[in-house]
Amino acid sequence: MLTQTLEDGRKLTDAALERLLPAAGVRPVSIHQAMRHSVFAGGKRIRPILCLEAGRSVAGTLQEGIEELGAALEMLHTYSLIHDDLPALDNDDLRRGRPTCHKVYGEAIAILAGDALQTQAYEVLSQLRCSAEARVKIIEEIARGTGTVNGMIGGQVVDLEAERSKPNAETLEYIHRSKTAALIAASVVTGGIYGNGSAEAVENLRRFGQAIGLAFQIVDDILDVTQTSEQLGKTAGKDIASEKATYPALFGLDESRKKARGLLDDAYNSLQSFGFRAETLNALACFLIERES
Ligand code: IPE
Ligand code: IPE
Ligand code: MG
Ligand code: MG
Ligand code: MG
Repeated sequence: MLTQTLEDGRKLTDAALERLLPAAGVRPVSIHQAMRHSVFAGGKRIRPILCLEAGRSVAGTLQEGIEELGAALEMLHTYSLIHDDLPALDNDDLRRGRPTCHKVYGEAIAILAGDALQTQAYEVLSQLRCSAEARVKIIEEIARGTGTVNGMIGGQVVDLEAERSKPNAETLEYIHRSKTAALIAASVVTGGIYGNGSAEAVENLRRFGQAIGLAFQIVDDILDVTQTSEQLGKTAGKDIASEKATYPALFGLDESRKKARGLLDDAYNSLQSFGFRAETLNALACFLIERES
């Protein structure tokens, strides 16, 4: 059952995060509290769960220690959220149902908390319990996926530069593939590498991850328009107010939904050679498109 997969994955990830992050009482306490404030605010843990299930899809079983890879991915994702919410970027007050990191701890500590989650993630990755070869490949995939060339930071840059500029469809797709799909694809790909998947299986997982990653951000744009702040745990209607480049703004809601569903089909097709082993990943993909928060 998918509900069980989501629940088990979340619990495993949260326990690993609890173990791998410095305790709130460790000096300097302000930054460790700030890191924990944002990490333990109740995110969906989608990237770690995708990673665990990608590993399982190639290996047949849940891989020992893979939750540490998932935790590192969640640290990087949370860093991106803390920075995304800063006044210099999206200037948001609400995240995961709580006041944003900079609202509680101030901008300086919030910037440093994001930086610290990033360095902590690489420390965790350096100690993963897989072969040294797999470890290096995983680090490379994640560094690329969060970097400036077709990666998360590059996407954030163009997202900011595109505000109030009505970009074309190609630029919009570049933004979404980079700022969001790249880390989601890296989560699936690195899960496959951790599980010792063949090169071909890992490339199929990459296509799957890229498709659901783009669909995920299209749905994020749709939810910004259709849901309330209470439902989302973050400020709704934000994209319209700041004239962001979004799929609903360029294509309208119906066409955006159609594009997300089309990408879901692409995702299913990518894993055809996995047979029944793709079941959970496919169910997760469907959940991500149908979600309401
Ligand atoms: C929000 O990501 C930011 C995007 C990349 C769209 P999530 O929707 O995964 O946020 P959490 O982790 O559940 O809070
Ligand atoms: C965020 O995109 C992508 C990141 C890399 C964090 P958004 O700016 O749309 O994310 P939300 O809506 O604030 O979560
Ligand atoms: Mg943003
Ligand atoms: Mg934002
Ligand atoms: Mg958004």
